Amino acid sequence: MKISASFLSIKDNLKENIDLLTKCDIDYLHLDIMDGIFVKNKTWDISEIKNLINYNKPLDVHLMVSDVYKYVDEYKDLNPEFITFHYEVDLDIMDIINYIKKYNIKVGLSIKPNTKVDEIIPYLPYLDLILVMSVEPGEGGQKFIIDSVDKIKKLKELKELKGDYLIEVDGGINDSTISLVKDVDIAVIGSYITSGNYEEKIKSIKEKIYG
Ligand code: DX5
Ligand code: ZN
Repeated sequence: MKISASFLSIKDNLKENIDLLTKCDIDYLHLDIMDGIFVKNKTWDISEIKNLINYNKPLDVHLMVSDVYKYVDEYKDLNPEFITFHYEVDLDIMDIINYIKKYNIKVGLSIKPNTKVDEIIPYLPYLDLILVMSVEPGEGGQKFIIDSVDKIKKLKELKELKGDYLIEVDGGINDSTISLVKDVDIAVIGSYITSGNYEEKIKSIKEKIYG
């Protein structure tokens, strides 16, 4: 299992702390991008992001935005490994998938806690990643929603028949809940890591994953 670290909950010295985080044993840097419309909070704009981040780790962009095309056009310039958008946006999902692929960037589709896996079955063959939100998107530090475990199981079964995607989980992952999501390929972890010594927190997660 790979770890994608979210810096959403870091409050002070963001640039220095992102540098510290990306020197740790993580696989991706997770960028939580919110527009104040799709979710009520708003995060950094692209010019701020360009000043904040480094390229020590591949980037995993999570767009919680309504105008997906505008943000894809901005974030493609960072050359991310993945751009993930939400199924719940009021846009043509297949058209966005093709739009992101055109830039040779891997495409992820995310589902909120109330969205069923069945709804996204038609898109599975075209996706590189499915992001299961295990909290309501919008903020860090929330409690893991247990129904996510069944969704991950279902996506793993469907993968045999319907596609070749990675499964990612995001929200409420810590040293207890990590054992519930052992089937995922990538776990996004935010506040659990950034609320203490990053190296030690990551080590404690890896001990739970690998024993
Ligand atoms: C929530 C974000 C998550 C969040 C995870 O909307 O998508 O990536 O930062 O934070 P934790 O791990 O604190 O739930
Ligand atoms: Zn996220």
